[in-house]
Amino acid sequence: MAPDGGPVRQLPGHPADIMTQAADKPAETAKSPNAPTEETVLSVKHYTDRMFAFRITRPGAFRFRSGEFVMIGLPGPTGKPLLRAYSIASPSWDEELEFFSIKVPDGPLTSKLQLIQPGDKVLLGRKSTGTLVHDALTPGKRLYLFSTGTGIAPFASIIRDPDTYERFEQVILTHTCREVGELKYGQDLVASLKDDPLVGEQAHRLVHYTTVTREPWHNQKRITTCMEDGQLYRDLGVPPLDPAVDRVMVCGSMDMINDIKALTEKAGLKEGSNASPAEFVIEKAFVG
Ligand code: A2P
Repeated sequence: MAPDGGPVRQLPGHPADIMTQAADKPAETAKSPNAPTEETVLSVKHYTDRMFAFRITRPGAFRFRSGEFVMIGLPGPTGKPLLRAYSIASPSWDEELEFFSIKVPDGPLTSKLQLIQPGDKVLLGRKSTGTLVHDALTPGKRLYLFSTGTGIAPFASIIRDPDTYERFEQVILTHTCREVGELKYGQDLVASLKDDPLVGEQAHRLVHYTTVTREPWHNQKRITTCMEDGQLYRDLGVPPLDPAVDRVMVCGSMDMINDIKALTEKAGLKEGSNASPAEFVIEKAFVG
């Protein structure tokens, strides 16, 4: 969890450095070339009392690869920006930037961010980064995107990127949430894909596989259980994970990341990075 008890989830690794810098270094002045830019909130949609999505303006100079994260925030009480890492949910070609956030009642950032309205200003870091990118995976046939909760955000970007369908024959997006209502963001997104001008014709190659853990649902169990007992592969009509053809990205609950990493490694897949692409990647920090 975030140092503030907020929603940033961290595994030991590089993005923590980014967050520490953001939290500890003196506020950048507006004139600093590295200072966050001030963007305008365009729309806000609340899905449950724990999750909401929002869209902001995108500066012309802001470039990112689908699946990356960036620092987002608000001016703090002392003028020092309060910034946290957020996966960008919109694809790299989009003229706006979309984010999907958890609400933490006493979280210093999300307790305020959840109150934003269209027209309000938010701060946007200038540089994006991350490992949930195509460049970190070697070529394969089937791409698994395993997510829990707001960990679906980077995959919302990836499934709207035409490059995904050029690289993979089939894309399997799994989303596990505590409650049925928390699936809605992903359900709406996937339903909208068939009308998407860029990827609409490829939408039939995406499978959306949902599980819910704390409410009745047709598939009421953790995704890891579905992998271990083989139900996932039976439902999909595909063989179990195979390093020859399958590639994997994972984002969400830290425990889930660790468990899927273990299952994926057991199947013989190796972890990749931007510097050394391989068969699976996990995100080491994001705002859940
Ligand atoms: P569960 O309800 O059984 O804990 P959270 O909201 O805490 O981030 O969790 C999001 C979803 O991730 C929940 O459905 C939760 O299931 C599931 N989850 C948590 N830990 C794991 C894990 N180790 N493996 C698989 N799923 C997990």
